[in-house]
Amino acid sequence: MSKGLTAAQHAGFVAEGLEGVVAAHTVLSDVDGQAGRLTIRGYAIEDLAHRAGFEGVAHLLLDGFFEDLPSDLAAALGAARVRAFAEVAALDEGLARRDPVEAARALIARLPDGDGLDTALLLLAAPAVFTPAVLRVAAGEAPVVPDPALSHAADMLRMTRGVPATDGEARALDAYLVTVCDHGLNASTFAARVVASTRAGLTSAVLAGISALKGPLHGGAPGPVIEMLDAIGAPDNAEAWLLSALKRGDRLMGFGHRIYRVRDPRADALKAAIRQLAQTSNAVPGRLAFAESVEQAALRILRDHKPDRPLDTNVEFYTAVLLEALGLPPKSFTCVFAMGRTAGWIAHAREQLATGKLVRPQSVYVGPRTKAAA
Ligand code: ACO
Repeated sequence: MSKGLTAAQHAGFVAEGLEGVVAAHTVLSDVDGQAGRLTIRGYAIEDLAHRAGFEGVAHLLLDGFFEDLPSDLAAALGAARVRAFAEVAALDEGLARRDPVEAARALIARLPDGDGLDTALLLLAAPAVFTPAVLRVAAGEAPVVPDPALSHAADMLRMTRGVPATDGEARALDAYLVTVCDHGLNASTFAARVVASTRAGLTSAVLAGISALKGPLHGGAPGPVIEMLDAIGAPDNAEAWLLSALKRGDRLMGFGHRIYRVRDPRADALKAAIRQLAQTSNAVPGRLAFAESVEQAALRILRDHKPDRPLDTNVEFYTAVLLEALGLPPKSFTCVFAMGRTAGWIAHAREQLATGKLVRPQSVYVGPRTKAAA
């Protein structure tokens, strides 16, 4: 469509859900939905998940967007966790009893807006500090102070449990955070870029991102995946349960994607992390085998249900299995997703800001034409 056309002239070109619409240039990530490939600043996600820690990949994403970005992001992020912890004083029991993503979002909203590195680091630190605090206060326990010397993943697990995580557990969470750090122009990243384009500031952009992420069609899916696995209970029940869910008109959580027409590459990156964790945990291999059998049944059924629409496993299915294996409660899964994705939101917000262009699409009016006022 060329510039300068009126909205009425665009009628008939409305792409519902902006499907197929290209709305930004980005140097951050490339999602190839036909080949099932995700590239982050030139690196395949499978390689990053096992070789770069979260701090490394956050640095990779933020590089070039902040002149004063330190080469050692681990130390700066550890210090930012300590600074973010000051906001935990505002967490009362009433707020902690809310859905954790709502409570964490409320605490993030207390952080001042800004476009600089200080704001970016506080925002990057915030979900890792606020999520454990919300879970602990809701359970009647005192929040645990961050340890800036630990990795982001290890500290989050320690602040949640009150005791240190094993190296294997910290590595598994780290692999998860890397896997979900960025993913093209997904709904939450687009929301963050729209807000950033108004020059509202990074805090506002991240709040927009987390608000979009919480929906069950986006980052709110893994909690319901656990509910589905628990309701199925045993492999033999899978087929009947899944068929009746589809008959009710429900969507199978953890399957289907707007861009991928093949398997989401992040599903296998996460499965590899679960396999590693399974080597040191007795409960994980059985749960993984069960999840795999449910996945196979779901894929068979979805092929029959929608022969014209390839519906494959997305990132959320094995996210649920991995975060559950780490002992994190399903109600916290969206917050943990936000812990990783905040890196992408901040980088995209800065990239959008650098264009200097307000995001402002048009709509086609389909309501009644001029009415006489009463
Ligand atoms: N289960 C059953 N049917 C499905 C599913 C599913 N998981 N996904 C899509 N469909 C069906 C839809 O009902 C629709 O059928 P219809 O044409 O008869 O109405 C058709 O496939 C196309 O669906 P759309 O919603 O138009 O496709 P879209 O690309 O917008 O959907 C989405 C992508 C929202 C992720 C969808 O696949 C879904 O709801 N999946 C389940 C929720 C989920 O797992 N979300 C996490 C996604 S990953 C992420 O955001 C991090």
